[in-house]
Order: sequence, then structure tokens, then C-alpha cells
Amino acid sequence: MTHAPNSLAGRDLAYSLHPYTNLAVHEERGPFIITRGEGIYVYDDQDNQYIEGLAGLWCTGLGFSEKRLADAAKSQLDQLPFSHSFAHRATIPVIELSEKLIDIAPGDLGKVYLVNSGSEAVDTAIKMVWYYHNAIGKTEKKKIISRKRAYHGVTIAAGSLTALPYAQDGWDLPLERFIHTDTPCYYRYGEDGESEEDFATRLADNLDRQIQAEGPDTVGALIAEPVMGAGGVMVPPKTYFEKIQKVLKKHDVLLIADEVICGFGRTGEMWGCDTYGIKPDLLTCAKQLSSAYLPIGAVMVTNKLYEAFVDNSRKLGIFGTGNTYGGHPVAAAVALETLKIYQDDDIMGHVKSVTPHFQERLKDLGKHPLVGEARGVGLIGGLELVANKETKEQYPPATKAAPTTAEKILGHKLVIRPLPGDGIGICPPLIVTDAEIDDIFDRLKRGLDDAQAALG
Ligand SMILES: Cc1ncc(COP(=O)(O)O)c(C=O)c1O
Repeated sequence: MTHAPNSLAGRDLAYSLHPYTNLAVHEERGPFIITRGEGIYVYDDQDNQYIEGLAGLWCTGLGFSEKRLADAAKSQLDQLPFSHSFAHRATIPVIELSEKLIDIAPGDLGKVYLVNSGSEAVDTAIKMVWYYHNAIGKTEKKKIISRKRAYHGVTIAAGSLTALPYAQDGWDLPLERFIHTDTPCYYRYGEDGESEEDFATRLADNLDRQIQAEGPDTVGALIAEPVMGAGGVMVPPKTYFEKIQKVLKKHDVLLIADEVICGFGRTGEMWGCDTYGIKPDLLTCAKQLSSAYLPIGAVMVTNKLYEAFVDNSRKLGIFGTGNTYGGHPVAAAVALETLKIYQDDDIMGHVKSVTPHFQERLKDLGKHPLVGEARGVGLIGGLELVANKETKEQYPPATKAAPTTAEKILGHKLVIRPLPGDGIGICPPLIVTDAEIDDIFDRLKRGLDDAQAALG
């Protein structure tokens, strides 16, 4: 397709470098330009309406036209557009947001450190694990474990934990110190005759052996998404987190809960940690923290870690890390307003009330000939596409089953996301209604029918 050089598409091709895009294909097909949004809908430059079935990138929890967030940004911009948190400085939005986050935080988390994105939160959490272990004299305890098919971001350390070939190939990742353990997906990796609980036991035993083999004195932390999102929407098998946490405790390995997708109601509770009984030493979040209206992320740590940070900064003279925009007052004001809306509009109650319908319609798609498993929790769902439902055999990679299916679904004006392992992710804004859920799944079904006809 050719694009006039002075058109929006032509100018995009001339100047923009697109993340997570096949750049050669992009030169042929050009950009999909989104110009405005309203509720759960977005509109392209021809004013075609689409349902945003992935809430942008699992992030616009309050949809695309929440005026209170625009007003909160404007008001803070008028009041104080920038100040920072270095060297004892503070701002009112950051103080109030930190207080609010600790108020709702799971487990024993006691302090908040603000950053600008999920990747930055994960990188910072890793630095904090290293700093903590240095502070308490366990200077060898530095390896970080993630699960294969995990997604934790793209910066060099977070990208080392993102155990997906498409995010590591060509980038010299992972670095040393980052190791990977089993993916907790019962459908794909459970063995014949093995129960879900036995599968969880096997994975915990494998983790135990792996830590012993590495040397427990060299392993600092394990990072886990409560529900694995971008790697294929994988819900943990029953008893998994209980068993994994026992192993970590035994070897004095910290647990980082990566709540960048799950946080703020996605799984039906405020945190994935609440849904799965996880008690983290550190927690990372971003995305729905501000409903994605402005970039902001956070790392929360227990007071036990914090006390060690205090000791070490006394010794070193400084807690020597900081980002210019970490705790940006405008982003913090918008995040604070987001948390107030979650409370004022009882968004958690709303999610609980529409979840049964969402999950019922999701499970129903499991009967489709193209779908091996439909899985999910709360308002997150995933489909794993298969060529053969009985044997779970997948399509040959060259078929590009998931991207092909996503294109067919887009033909019905529903934006979703193809995922690794022939997955399809569904993650609408949290404000979605029962009627909109029906519309989403009707469109999905029609898209799957078209994909089946195309894939054969
Ligand atoms: C669980 C998880 N962690 C971290 C990240 C990275 O966040 P960001 O894209 O804001 O850097 C993501 C992004 O999707 C994520 O899903």
C-alpha cells in the first residue's frame, strides 16, 4: 500500500519507529491511527468505532473519557507542574498518593517509591533486592528468578526477566544473574493424569531443586505476576502460590509480586496478591494506577526492607538512586484521583458484579473448535488456539494463528491482542457493562469463525 508523503500515515512512516512491530511489515501496511476515545470505545482517523478489548495495553481501567482525571491533571498543572522528591523534597500529591497506596497495599508493605512505568518499577525492585542484601551482609544473594513466558518489561534487567523469545532475541538478553523456572500453566504443561495440585507440587519441587543447584546463598528473589498476562494469560494452578512461597521462605529468597497488570481490581480483588494469598516482600505496579492517563509506576517494600535501606544509607551517606520524573506531581495527582474514583464508584464492587457474566461468556468460547482452552479470572481472559482440540496440537508457527485471528477479530471492530503460545488476550476497561461484555464476546465469536475458515 502506498501512503501520500504528507498524509498522517506517510509522516508516521517517515519519522516514527514503532515498538513491538515488524518494521518491514509496517512499511507496507502503515499505521493504525487512533484519534479519540469514549467509554470502552476508541475511534480511528476515519472515525470508525472499535471496542478496546484490551483496555489499551491492559491499562485504561476507567476507559477513555474519565473527566475527573483530565480535571485532576489540569488542576495540578496549574498549581505546580513539577517538583521532585530528591534530597528531602516532597509534594502534596506524592505524600497523599503514597499514604493511599500503603492503606490499600497487601501484606506488610510499608513504603512507596514512585517511578514512571512498569519496566522502571521492575528494574528498581531488582536494585532494591541487591541493595537490601548488600545492606544485611548477604552480598552473594543476587540472582533473580522469573518464570518462563513471564512478562516484566523491556529495560535491561526487566527485559532479562521477561522470558519470551520475541522480547529477548536480538537484544543480547538475558544478562547473567537472571534465571528462569517453570511456567505455571496446567493446560499446556500439566502431565497426563496429573492433578492441578500435583502439577503445582511438581513446580514447587523443581523450584526447590533449582535454588539448591544455584546455591541458596546466591539467589536473591523470585518475581511473579499473580496471573501471567502478556505471556498468554495464564492463571496459576490451585495451591501454586502457597507451595512456591514455602520454598522461597525455606531458602530466604524474597518475593516480588509484579502487579503491573493485576493491580487495581483486574482479578476481582484490589490486588492479584489478595486473590491468590500472596504476601510479597516487594510489589511493582503501574498501568491502572493512573488508569494509564499519565505514566506512573510504583514499587512498594516492607518495613523490614526499608529499615535495612535506612541503615545502608546511613553508612553510604545516601540512598543513591532517583529518577527526575519519579513522583511527578501531575502523574501523582492523576493516580490519586484514579484511586479515589475506584473507591467513589465502587469499581471493585462493579468488577465483582460483572465478572460472572464475563467468565461465563469466556468459558463458552472454550467450546469453539479453534480454542483449546479459555481461561481467566476477574476481568482478564485468554484463549489458547489449537489446530486439534483432542491432542492440543498447535498450528505450525508459519501459520501465525494468533495474529491472523486477531486481524479477523479486528475486522469486527474489536481490538484485542495476539499473545505468544497462540494466545488471545481479552482485558476490557474495568467499567465494562454486562451488555458491552455480550457485544465483546459476540464479536470475538464472529472473529474466531472467520479465523477458523482462514486457518482451516
Ligand atoms: C506484568 C508486567 N510487568 C511489567 C510490565 C512493563 O511495563 P511498562 O510497559 O510500563 O514498562 C508489563 C507491561 O505490560 C507487565 O505486564
